[in-house]
Amino acid sequence: MPGIVIVGVQWGDEGKGKATDLLGDRTDWVVKFNGGNNAGHTVVIGDEKYALHLLPSGILSPGVNPVIGNGVVVDLEVLFAELEALHARGVDASRLRVSANAHIITQYHRTLDKVTERFLGKRMIGTTGRGIGPAYADKINRVGIRVQDLFDENILRQKVEGALDQKNHLLLKVYNRRAIAVEEIVDDLLSYVERLRPMVADTGLLLNQALDRGDVVVFEGGQATMLDVDHGTYPFVTSSSATAGGASTGSGVGPNRLDRIVGIVKAYTTRVGSGPFPTELHDEQGEWLRSRGFEFGTTTGRPRRVGWYDAPITRYATRINGITDLVLTKLDILTGLDEIPVCVAYEVDGERVEEIPVSQSDFHHAIPILEYFPGWKEDISAARTFDDLPAAAQDYVLALEAMSGTRISVIGVGAARDAVIVRTDLVD
Ligand code: GDP
Ligand code: IMO
Ligand code: MG
Repeated sequence: MPGIVIVGVQWGDEGKGKATDLLGDRTDWVVKFNGGNNAGHTVVIGDEKYALHLLPSGILSPGVNPVIGNGVVVDLEVLFAELEALHARGVDASRLRVSANAHIITQYHRTLDKVTERFLGKRMIGTTGRGIGPAYADKINRVGIRVQDLFDENILRQKVEGALDQKNHLLLKVYNRRAIAVEEIVDDLLSYVERLRPMVADTGLLLNQALDRGDVVVFEGGQATMLDVDHGTYPFVTSSSATAGGASTGSGVGPNRLDRIVGIVKAYTTRVGSGPFPTELHDEQGEWLRSRGFEFGTTTGRPRRVGWYDAPITRYATRINGITDLVLTKLDILTGLDEIPVCVAYEVDGERVEEIPVSQSDFHHAIPILEYFPGWKEDISAARTFDDLPAAAQDYVLALEAMSGTRISVIGVGAARDAVIVRTDLVD
């Protein structure tokens, strides 16, 4: 029985939340393995719309066991606010388990995120300002605070002191901000202890036992391949491992237990924040895509940058993640176009390049080589089988499939939970 990984192919917001939700009633466990409340997943169930940031989207399915893995950075205020909001809407999240080894985002991480961005000026990353980068930096620097530290007040105080030692110099002398008092942080963190205690577990053990029993475990990635700290468009990336390898390290499950790697890819491309984006549109077609696709950030409300589908990116993501199945989302948004441009390769310094250039400088000025596919005018949102799609939409999907070299197993034709065409079952 499978361990199924869900990863974003592009720069995020491909519809991962909806894909996880789609698997919901056949999922026993759903694990968030990377990132924190920088993610924004919108899931539409009937007339209700749910926006989740820190919690995995699979939490919306009754009976599922949600897990926050060790690879996640947790803002406790956000955790409890999201849990309360779900509770108020009748969603039972009482089974949530949080890894004792997950790291905590504190007030000083949020402050540092904002001031460092300001100091970067025009070189800014365009982060979500949630403290993600500074929290992961502390983890790697071995001055992070872990969930388990909250249960030993003495240790917690020592660790916060250690972390603030350098940071207060930085805040005061470099960034001209006020110093942060150790007690202020310790008191804040301790205020969550009693609510947190029942949730904390050795989640790696729970997940391995679940897989041994044959349970279906979905590993829900935040962000995406091109935002991955190793494989993305560094430094314009997030600070975690958003690719399939992160599902293993970020949850404590061996890589050989990940049976299916499902890449979620939008029928066009979007990006939030700075960094290269070859197919980006700055014209009225871009405006059209943004408003039709409602491309505004779930987390920060920022308008997303938009552009055409980029086939070399999907090929790259397929290699990096070992993708076995693609879920192509938002095909319905392209309805109405006379022709649909797709980037099939790039031109770099006058040469045709088939794959993402190894040098980021080349990628920054890569010019997309576009091929044009016939569009369709029919509303496709009620299509539930591949044959229900107009011939031009079928041809577009088959062309993307051929270019990526991986089967497109599911096609999204609308925001609603059931607005999908399933060509190959993701759980068998
Ligand atoms: P995530 O970050 O990858 O989970 O994606 P987001 O939730 O940030 O953005 C995807 C948006 O597209 C959400 O508002 C979804 O409800 C919506 N969505 C997902 N799949 C489809 C689809 O096939 N068609 C349409 N029209 N909307 C979709
Ligand atoms: P989901 O899970 C889109 C982007 C930010 C910024 C960069 C670094 O909804 O797909 P960070 O706050 O992580 O240090 O910001 O990464 N970013 C996202 N863009 N979707 C996301 O998540 C993102 N999470 C981070 O805009 O460019
Ligand atoms: Mg999102």
